Amino acid sequence: MSQNLDSLTPKQIVEELDKHIIGQKDAKKNVAIALRNRWRRMNAPEEMRSEITPNNILMIGSTGVGKTEIARRLAKLADAPFTKVEASKFTEIGYVGRDVESMVRDLVESSVHLVQSAKKEEVKERALQAVEEIILEALIPAMGKTGKKKKNADATPETDEELNHKTRELFREKLRRGEIENKKIEIDVASSNSPSIGMVGGPIDEMSMMNIQEMIGGMLPKRQKKRKLTIAEARKALLDEESSKLIDMDEVKEEAIRKAENLGIIFIDEIDKIASPRSGGSGPDVSREGVQRDLLPIVEGSTVNTKYGVINTDHVLFIAAGAFHVSKPSDLIPELQGRFPIRVELQTLKEEDFYRILKEPRGALTKQYQAMMAAEGVELSFDDEALLEIAKIAFEVNAEVENIGARRLQTVVSLLLNDLMFDVPDIIGANAHIIVNKEMVKDKLAGLVKNRDLSQFIL
Ligand SMILES: Nc1ncnc2c1ncn2[C@@H]1O[C@H](COP(=O)(O)OP(=O)(O)OP(=O)(O)O)[C@@H](O)[C@H]1O
Ligand SMILES: [Mg+2]
Repeated sequence: MSQNLDSLTPKQIVEELDKHIIGQKDAKKNVAIALRNRWRRMNAPEEMRSEITPNNILMIGSTGVGKTEIARRLAKLADAPFTKVEASKFTEIGYVGRDVESMVRDLVESSVHLVQSAKKEEVKERALQAVEEIILEALIPAMGKTGKKKKNADATPETDEELNHKTRELFREKLRRGEIENKKIEIDVASSNSPSIGMVGGPIDEMSMMNIQEMIGGMLPKRQKKRKLTIAEARKALLDEESSKLIDMDEVKEEAIRKAENLGIIFIDEIDKIASPRSGGSGPDVSREGVQRDLLPIVEGSTVNTKYGVINTDHVLFIAAGAFHVSKPSDLIPELQGRFPIRVELQTLKEEDFYRILKEPRGALTKQYQAMMAAEGVELSFDDEALLEIAKIAFEVNAEVENIGARRLQTVVSLLLNDLMFDVPDIIGANAHIIVNKEMVKDKLAGLVKNRDLSQFIL
């Protein structure tokens, strides 16, 4: 689904986001600008390029209104390396200062993955050919050129070698037509044996741990293992191996670092949990402020060591998000506030939004259930009135019990369809057509909504 970033204008970015996220205009608009600005920066004169800093964004909105979803979709859209961390995890016990750098390492990891898959895709044709040869060799080993090559033309019309060649070609055709996918063959596959090291005693930070792991991993020879697999399985196992052989890992690393530096997005969730109204400065507040101070250099731009190389975070885009129910953005230390110049507030979702969320997005909940049912050969459809009713119920429960935003839809819909999901295919067989109507929704859920004690536990 990744589009060419070059061709997406802010308006087009918003249009793409609209396919997945309902409402939240302001947030979409601002992330679209931030994304386009990176393209603008990279196309600006060289000497300005380093001056232009990203417009880091602070998203403010209660839980389940689409904060994470927007960031995630944005990254996907831009084919950008993306990682998400919860700021609160750094306040946990056992936290060591430099651990915050792990978010940057995760970003690079994600970037390597992106670059690697792209490169593998490039060499796929060649890798597939190589795989075909290996499978063929396992099926019918080729005869060496040293075979009996008697120039005795009239004695046997075909030498063994020619016969061997013919048979191989025959099987090649069969392979290509997918006729022998379930046939078992024996092949060598590399068993990935990166040993994990148990550490006893003193603490060791993630970075040195990684280095040790890699060192040991590199020292041990790659073990080849004979395995009996069906051709289909073998192809899968071999394809990965063969395409890895065809790509240059040093190139991947370098490109991945560059990509992470220029296009990476780090999403810092729950940033409000590390902000605290300034008080005497005791206990947890100190550790929260400590985390903010540790974040500062990373957000501000610094270099971080990763096992793929050194990355500079100057142009990484940071999107922070939080509900800010208890604390306010102004409770963050001033230096950090200054690093998130763009503030966007996400709207609390209304009943109409819920209705649309059920129905419209590409991966809408109703579509998910339809797809699952379709896998069973069962057609599932929802009356509009039923969707309106579900939206209403979800909204009410949010108001009564606890507002968990659009996530409430999942609990409501899963409860509504639970029995159906159990009965297919045993009681309701293929070719059935199930229509979810308003009566059914009321029937299954209305009682629960009225009974607050019950809905607290069930919905
Ligand atoms: N505006 C929206 N449009 C479509 N789907 C939405 C919207 N808001 C939330 N959702 C759905 O609700 C779920 C939760 O949303 P998301 O993860 O973005 O919440 P969040 O705002 O990050 O909340 P939290 O503060 O708890 O992290 C997702 O599965 C998402 O698909
Ligand atoms: Mg979230």
